[in-house]
Amino acid sequence: MEFRYPIKIRAVWWEGNKVCWIDTRKLPFREEIYCSNDPLRVAKAIIEMEIRGAPAIGVAAALAIASYAKELLEDNTYRDKFDNILKNAVKLLWETRPTAYNLFWALKRISSIIDLELDPHEKTSRLVEEALDIMREDIEANIKLGEYGAELIDHEDTILTHCNAGALATAAFGTVGGIIRVAWYTGKKIKIITTETRPVLQGARLNVWEYSREGIPITLITDSMAAFVIRKGLVNKVIVGADRITRKGYVVNKIGTYGIALAAKRHNIPFYVAAPTSTIDLGSSVDDVVIEERNPDEIRKVMDKPITLPEIPVYNYAFDITDPDLVTAIITEKGVVYPPFEENLAKIVKK
Ligand code: MRU
Repeated sequence: MEFRYPIKIRAVWWEGNKVCWIDTRKLPFREEIYCSNDPLRVAKAIIEMEIRGAPAIGVAAALAIASYAKELLEDNTYRDKFDNILKNAVKLLWETRPTAYNLFWALKRISSIIDLELDPHEKTSRLVEEALDIMREDIEANIKLGEYGAELIDHEDTILTHCNAGALATAAFGTVGGIIRVAWYTGKKIKIITTETRPVLQGARLNVWEYSREGIPITLITDSMAAFVIRKGLVNKVIVGADRITRKGYVVNKIGTYGIALAAKRHNIPFYVAAPTSTIDLGSSVDDVVIEERNPDEIRKVMDKPITLPEIPVYNYAFDITDPDLVTAIITEKGVVYPPFEENLAKIVKK
């Protein structure tokens, strides 16, 4: 696959009829790659966040079904149960994580192929085609939204980001990462400030790894430092990703995003959200969004080391919700969407 910009990091890809991924849990210390055609293994990788980030989990789920179909074709005994086995695999992947819309968006595309009246050979080719399209479209969308977003970035800007919405959260290139990369590759000398992003540390482990690898200057802060850094004027812009954007423009993203949006509004700096249209769920209202609550041990421990009493009750919400009036614009592959979001998101998604 050829793209307008160099693709230096891939999070999820297709190789030897399998889905392959870099295990983001091991970064930045070890670069471990796994490949599988077993949907159970891929589901485990998504639940345990070896693969994470809204677009990446959608792409991985689609490739997992395609690779499983290829595997099933090899064994004649599964022929008459082919569709049912694939539908069960879709269900398994559907239930891995509840918040990111891209997972459901990708699995709906894959399910519409499973539902076609085709023989297993023809259906498998169509599934592989569709899954590869989902992967390629993700990279192309990131490049396009990167180009739109880079127009909003000035030379020498310092951009605050939260969580990883870079190459490691997508098939490649990233959403926030796409904007940062296009700005950097076209000569804008920008700097990044990333929160560490407790408890999974996507900022400290993943943003630091992926941007410093390309020589893009990046500084690490604790999550609780974000408002102060904004207040001190160390940041000109905030750009974050999204797991789901509702019809009215509520942005569901990594826990901590809302607080940063409030601080950005208070100090009059733009708060941008970068997301492909596959993250926008025009059918959803903010009340329908399921906020994932993860294992309390993620909070009780840091890198597997206990930091508190073992039985202490904790809240471990993985995501929060930012109101549309705190969002300056949503940067998509079809263009930059400004308020009123309800009207303008509907126009852009249907474009
Ligand atoms: O829990 P994670 O690591 O999957 O959460 C990821 C985020 O919140 C990202 O900001 C979002 O998925 C956008 S990724 C392009």
